[in-house]
Order: sequence, then structure tokens, then C-alpha cells
Amino acid sequence: EKGGYDHFMLKEIYEQARSIRDCLRGRIYPDQGKVQLGGVKEYADKLRNIDRIIIVACGTSWHAGLVGEYLIEEYGRVPVEVEYASEFRYRNPIITEQDIVIAISQSGETADTMAALEIAKERGATIFGICNVVGASIPRITDAGVYTHAGPEIGVASTKAFTAQVTVLTLIAFYIAQQRGTLTQSKLIEYLTELNEIPTLVERTLQCNDRVEEIAARFKDSNNCLFLGRGSSFPVALEGALKLKEISYVHAEGYPAAEMKHGPIALIDAELPVVFIATKNSSYEKVVSNIQEVKARGGHVIAIVTEGDTQVREMAEYVIEIPQTDDAFVPLLATIPLQFLAYHIAVMRGCNVDQPRNLAKSVTVE
Ligand code: F6R
Repeated sequence: EKGGYDHFMLKEIYEQARSIRDCLRGRIYPDQGKVQLGGVKEYADKLRNIDRIIIVACGTSWHAGLVGEYLIEEYGRVPVEVEYASEFRYRNPIITEQDIVIAISQSGETADTMAALEIAKERGATIFGICNVVGASIPRITDAGVYTHAGPEIGVASTKAFTAQVTVLTLIAFYIAQQRGTLTQSKLIEYLTELNEIPTLVERTLQCNDRVEEIAARFKDSNNCLFLGRGSSFPVALEGALKLKEISYVHAEGYPAAEMKHGPIALIDAELPVVFIATKNSSYEKVVSNIQEVKARGGHVIAIVTEGDTQVREMAEYVIEIPQTDDAFVPLLATIPLQFLAYHIAVMRGCNVDQPRNLAKSVTVE
């Protein structure tokens, strides 16, 4: 059932062009600049007048939430708070009937996420779910929701569910923008046309596998790794670090690149690989100076760059190219090489990729 792949995780990484395409199907009409989300249609008015959205989730799903924060604030212009469900539920959170609380959960069964939603519901908020498993506990208690349609995810480390969650959040951001008029029709047409191309760009991104495998061979014995990005690539850095930690047991940290000089820079020595998400988007120049800072201290720089990049190529020890796309969609592409990196390092270290020690696919106890 692994479809010829050595592990479910690898199969699921490769499924992402298809899973994102399935997630978009019937939901976007690029020519009309229109997003249609049947699951939340009843709440279109509420979304038009919303003052605040709270996202609750755990682990990888929480990282997707952070990407969602950038997207919803940027395009829908609604303030978003992203909370660890486990913290939110125990802190007497301030929630009003005006709020929409969105839970993100692949399994739809995570105990803390479920409990956070129950509290929000008790206090009168409207509750939405972004889940993968149809009919799971979370989708059963929510007022509305959007399924990710990524298909069953067997590998314990979440891959295609993450990119599908980000895809749904992208759709929600543009749906809100459409309701609130925060993007013009012609901008919506432009964005949705590009979004429609993402599955094809994901296919091209998947071709980086061999390159990433070479890089993994070079760094497989490192005991630490730092992942840095800015803007919506910051949560991508967090996700890259989590993948590496959970399946290869290598200590890894994700940081916003600018925070490096407030502490983690002390870690940099000739042993430390530092993975940068350095694509050609709005924070490019800033990331370039962060790369210089790492180089100056002898760190090994691995950079994810946009196809055709020359500036970072001259500075980094290794580059991995991904196709050019709008800022809005970079997380969907930039995550993929990081998934491959964690995968290959784990395999080379002899780890059980699909069932890492101490981890369960769905965490139904707190
Ligand atoms: C990481 C991973 C976990 C889950 C987390 C939430 O690869 O799989 O961090 O993301 O346990 O699970 P769900 O999304 O099912 O609520």
C-alpha cells in the first residue's frame, strides 16, 4: 500500500500535488476571482463583519495556523491570534460571541484542540474546524468547517495534511478578502489564477528530492540544526525543525531569521548547519544579510532559493531551488524540500520514519 515507496512518509510527500489539487477542487473560480467555500457559506455575513479570529491547534497544525495568520491578516485584514490549544484551554481565555475560533486538526481527535473548542463554544463563539478526517470528533462539534481532503495520512509525521491545511487557510483568507472587499476583483483574479497553478509548481518542486538527498548525506551526522525564515517563511522554518526533530531525533530549532542575533547566533560554529528560506519575496534582502551574518561565523548555509537566484547561490554552501511564486504561496512550496531533508536524514540515521519513537498519530490524551 506504500505504492512502491519505501515509506508512507515519502509517498505522502509525493502526493502533495494531488492533495492540494483535491483541496482546491470546486472551491476556486480564477476567471471570476471567486472563492466558494460551501462549509462556511452560512457565515459569510459574520466573516464580513468579524473583528478577530482565534486559531487553536497543536504541533504541525499550529504551524499551519501561523501561516494562516499571515495570510488572513495580509489579505482579509482581520486580526488573528494563533494559540497552542493546550495553553488556551487552561488560561481562562477572553472570548466573546463576536469571535470565530478555528481549530486546525488533521485527525480531528486531538484532546487539547477539542477541549479548546468546547470552551470557545461554551462562551458563545462561532467555532470552525479545518480537519482532514471526515466525521471525526472535531468536525462533529463545530458550527462549520472546511475539510482538507488530503486523503488518509499514515506517516506519523504530518506532511500532506500540513500543506492541505495551509491551502484551506489560503482559501479562507481570500474568501474573507472577497467578503470584506479588502482585495480588488482584479487582484483576486490574479491570486486565484496563481493558486490554481500551485499543484503544477508543487510537482516541479518535488524534483528537488535528489538534490536534497545529497545535502542530507553531507549533514546526516550533525547533532543540531537551525532553520530560519522571515514572514510566512518563519512558520515554515518551525515546521522544518519539527520534522527533523521528530523523525531523525536531531535537535533542531526554527526561528524568525531576525531573532537570530538575540540568542541563537551564539550556537553558530563550523559544525552547525543553518537552513534558510531565502526565496525572492518581500523579505529577501533582509534574509540575505542574515545569511551573511551566519557565514561570517563559519556556519554551513543551506538555502532554499527561487529558481534562477544568483545572489544567495554565491554565499550559500548548498542551494535548493523552488519555482517562483507570489509571497502568498511560498509556504506551500518551501515546505517540501524541508520534508525531504528530514526524511532522508532520518533514513540515513536508521530511524523508523513512519513510526518515530514516543509519538502517536493522534493524541487523544492531554
Ligand atoms: C507533527 C505531528 C503533530 C501533530 C499534532 C496535532 O508531524 O504530526 O505535531 O501535528 O499532534 O495533530 P492533529 O493535527 O491531528 O490535531
